[in-house]
Amino acid sequence: MLDAHRDARLQDIQTPFYLYDTDLLQQTLDVIRAEAGSHPCYHVHYAIKANSNPVILRQIAAAGLGADCVSGGEIHAAVESGFKPDSIVFAGVGKADWEIRLALQTGIGAFNVESTEELDVIAQLAAEQQLTARISLRINPDVAAHTHAHITTGRAENKFGIDRNHMVEVIRKTLATPHLDFVGLHFHIGSQMLDMSDFLALALRINEIQDQLEAEGIRLPSINVGGGLGVDYDHPDRHPIPDFAAYFATYSDNLRLRPGQHLHFELGRSVVAQMGSLISRVLYVKHGTVKRFAILDAGMTELIRPALYGALHAIQTFDIDGGRPCFASARRDQDYVTYDVVGPICESSDVFARDYPLPPLQRGDMVAIRSAGAYGEVMASCYNCRQLPAAHTVNDLQERLKR
Ligand code: LLP
Repeated sequence: MLDAHRDARLQDIQTPFYLYDTDLLQQTLDVIRAEAGSHPCYHVHYAIKANSNPVILRQIAAAGLGADCVSGGEIHAAVESGFKPDSIVFAGVGKADWEIRLALQTGIGAFNVESTEELDVIAQLAAEQQLTARISLRINPDVAAHTHAHITTGRAENKFGIDRNHMVEVIRKTLATPHLDFVGLHFHIGSQMLDMSDFLALALRINEIQDQLEAEGIRLPSINVGGGLGVDYDHPDRHPIPDFAAYFATYSDNLRLRPGQHLHFELGRSVVAQMGSLISRVLYVKHGTVKRFAILDAGMTELIRPALYGALHAIQTFDIDGGRPCFASARRDQDYVTYDVVGPICESSDVFARDYPLPPLQRGDMVAIRSAGAYGEVMASCYNCRQLPAAHTVNDLQERLKR
């Protein structure tokens, strides 16, 4: 009886929706705090671009992380969610004047500056407001990351950062300009990196750069190594929390910090990806001429990563059991069927996975597209005049099913 009641309640919940496991988020934040916290000079800024849902932001701010913002909107969201203004770093190749003014008035910790042209505008706007802008210069380290071409950023040909050959002259200019306070250098080489050798390569390159600058008499109060730690999209349950110990150890073992120097990190995906799933219903199981399609009510409008980057997220059936969400994969020892799992959008790239094994599906079944906590909800669109979906926490969903 209770189950029937619960099932009816579950049927009432509109799909698609994002489901956020805030307990897993808390465990992840606790690990980050434990691993980074053993180094008093380490500061972790959460990259708000990965997920800016207010519930999630408040929880991350309460854990004491700083914020990494890339727009005026993100600065507003950070402050409203309780991130301390001086813990905010502000990056981006194209900061508009109103965004620079907002950042100055907010009293952010540092601008990550990407060009001399931008430096001039910040200096001018700071002078107009009689304020001082703390400046971290983003240097292009020309380090290749082992990840998708669309999300590498640290190569010489990318639009990001200042060329290393011009670094000394831009630092000197920053030091000599009124209303600018030089706080150090910023780097970021890419995203979804699981191979620690990428972070090692960056650490070694930064060592070279520091030695070069010291020979020029330039001291860096702080270094920001950006973000980029990846998650296991294939096995979200096996690896719900990324290997933060190995990540921070790569820096602590290899990056030669000077006494009193601060090290900043900008982690996005690794903080939030695994705590989120996109929950959807099967609208139709269509038997095509050569393929069987599971047509979902979620599509590239709710999770664009497969269409945009060819990303493959694990797909499982979804139910609530004993009050907890449960996800089930196809098992080799049981019957399973392979489907092309697709969305309803009028685009042939609206495909989550091809020939994907799942337990036999029928209309109305719920499925979860896993690891959707990062770059999911934030990249959703209203294409095809669709509505932006709701987001529920696991705890809220449990409450709703009890009532
Ligand atoms: N810092 C900077 C300067 C960045 O550009 C980024 C991400 C981050 C930090 C955070 O990186 P994370 O720790 O999340 O890897 N939409 C793409 C990812 C774009 C990443 C852009 N920059 C995706 O869904 O894979």
